Amino acid sequence: MESIEKEINRRRTFAIISHPDAGKTTLTEKFLLYGGAINLAGSVKGKATARHAVSDWMEIEKERGISVTSSVLQFEYEGFCINILDTPGHQDFSEDTYRTLMAADSAVMVIDASKGVEAQTRKLFKVCVMRKIPIFTFINKMDRDANDTFELLDEIEKELGIATCPVNWPIGSGKRFKGVYDRNNRCVITFSDTEKGTKEGETTVIPVEDEARLSQAIGEEAAGILSDEIELLDGASAEFDLQQVQAGELTPVFFGSALTNFGVEFFLKHFLEMTTTPLPRKADTGLVSPTENEFSAFVFKIQANMNKAHRDRIAFMRICSGKYEASMEVKHVQGGRVMRLSQPQQIMASERKILEEAYAGDIIGVFDPGIFSIGDTLCMPKEQFKYEGIPTFAPEHFARVRQMDTMKRKQFVKGITQIAQEGAIQIFQEFNIGMEEIIVGVVGVLQFDVLKYRLENEYNVEIKLEPLPYEHIRWIENKEIDLAKLTGTSDMKKIKDLKGNPLLLFINSWSIGMTLDRNKDLVLSEFGRD
Ligand code: G4P
Repeated sequence: MESIEKEINRRRTFAIISHPDAGKTTLTEKFLLYGGAINLAGSVKGKATARHAVSDWMEIEKERGISVTSSVLQFEYEGFCINILDTPGHQDFSEDTYRTLMAADSAVMVIDASKGVEAQTRKLFKVCVMRKIPIFTFINKMDRDANDTFELLDEIEKELGIATCPVNWPIGSGKRFKGVYDRNNRCVITFSDTEKGTKEGETTVIPVEDEARLSQAIGEEAAGILSDEIELLDGASAEFDLQQVQAGELTPVFFGSALTNFGVEFFLKHFLEMTTTPLPRKADTGLVSPTENEFSAFVFKIQANMNKAHRDRIAFMRICSGKYEASMEVKHVQGGRVMRLSQPQQIMASERKILEEAYAGDIIGVFDPGIFSIGDTLCMPKEQFKYEGIPTFAPEHFARVRQMDTMKRKQFVKGITQIAQEGAIQIFQEFNIGMEEIIVGVVGVLQFDVLKYRLENEYNVEIKLEPLPYEHIRWIENKEIDLAKLTGTSDMKKIKDLKGNPLLLFINSWSIGMTLDRNKDLVLSEFGRD
């Protein structure tokens, strides 16, 4: 048991969140470089090759040259076993992006220093806040002209509502980027861009008290500005408090440049010190401890159609407690069955390998003959508990689905229901209208194409999608409310999900506030929970 505990305690499982192009992939590559998982930075993405080799199983991905899936990277660094969960971005942003955060114990938020907080970061950040997981900020691209540092921090605090505590502080940016000031050790680490990221460049560490050396290294003007800024900073910024960090109330902020590999290892080291070991997880029987309980896991993602001929799926599960061994029998609680997991795999960026063992904190993918649903629990045969469900996230794009051939009703209903069960889309109905009119909601528009493609290819059903103008959906928390008496805005539409839960659709965010104003007892939520 002791060695299991040791294995679990050296695990760190986190997701990287960012707006596309902020540098998430570049930063990940540099992490892997330190972990020795790759020899040369650049081989994670290699844009068209390595990344797609993993997930070119779906035609649509090949056609578009993007990855609809997300993967997990595992590597070792200084005794830690690190799991990085990739959150898909760009057009392939989907509910999976959100769900991935349900499997992480902390999040690293990458921000482009010249752009500040961007839309996608904001959305993902909300999920982290809901889970109260630690959030670490890496402000990237300091080798390019950046926004004012104080303004950047202010923006994070105001826009995201989290206190910030800079761990280091940049000296200039762009062509005048001289390095960072390490606040703990009161020294300056000078920037050097000689190695273009294949390894850390030559840097010098100068104590800030050594004024003569400092002025010589970064110039008198920069040294003067730094001295003023340090004074301001020490007076103004929040005190570092690890407890607050771990409760997700304070984000440590780091500045660097992933491309030139400056400040990346500094970040990694500090991050590993401050972040958390695998967290306990809520179940209907109470909190389940990663180290004190035997094997348990929950399914956070299902990926369909790995092999078109077989219509098979891969269920991704996060191990929450204990150790998993390949030969082990486990109980699928929702299915009420004891079973052996089939072909447990670790899905890596460049390869898939069959696993012999895995520990709390790790992610495994198993072959799923269609029995798992998102949020399902697995545990030891003698146990019986269910992990708290994964919320449903608000879609932002809606379309009415029309089926072209009415003779194929059955296949249509089966197909669309199955795809919805996998969590790729959400389906809704209008009140008093049956399954002949379905409204589909998605988080990223690409899912519409995926739906159309899959219905045609797997279920032989042709559909037409009519985009609807709604952008906001809210779950009605107090379900007992009399829907007929709701006085909404003219753009509001009442719908229900497959379980009959009432929801409201709006075109404008303004209307949500208006509707709440007009119906004082109405409680709305951005997340759906069963
Ligand atoms: P993402 O995964 O968050 O979408 O971003 P990614 O790492 O792919 O980076 C987006 C672009 O920003 C890339 O340039 C990358 O080289 C660049 N970049 C990342 N970090 C830094 C940095 O610290 N400094 C500077 N100056 N640039 C950075 P690209 O031209 O779009 O791609 P590529 O041709 O370099 O691969």
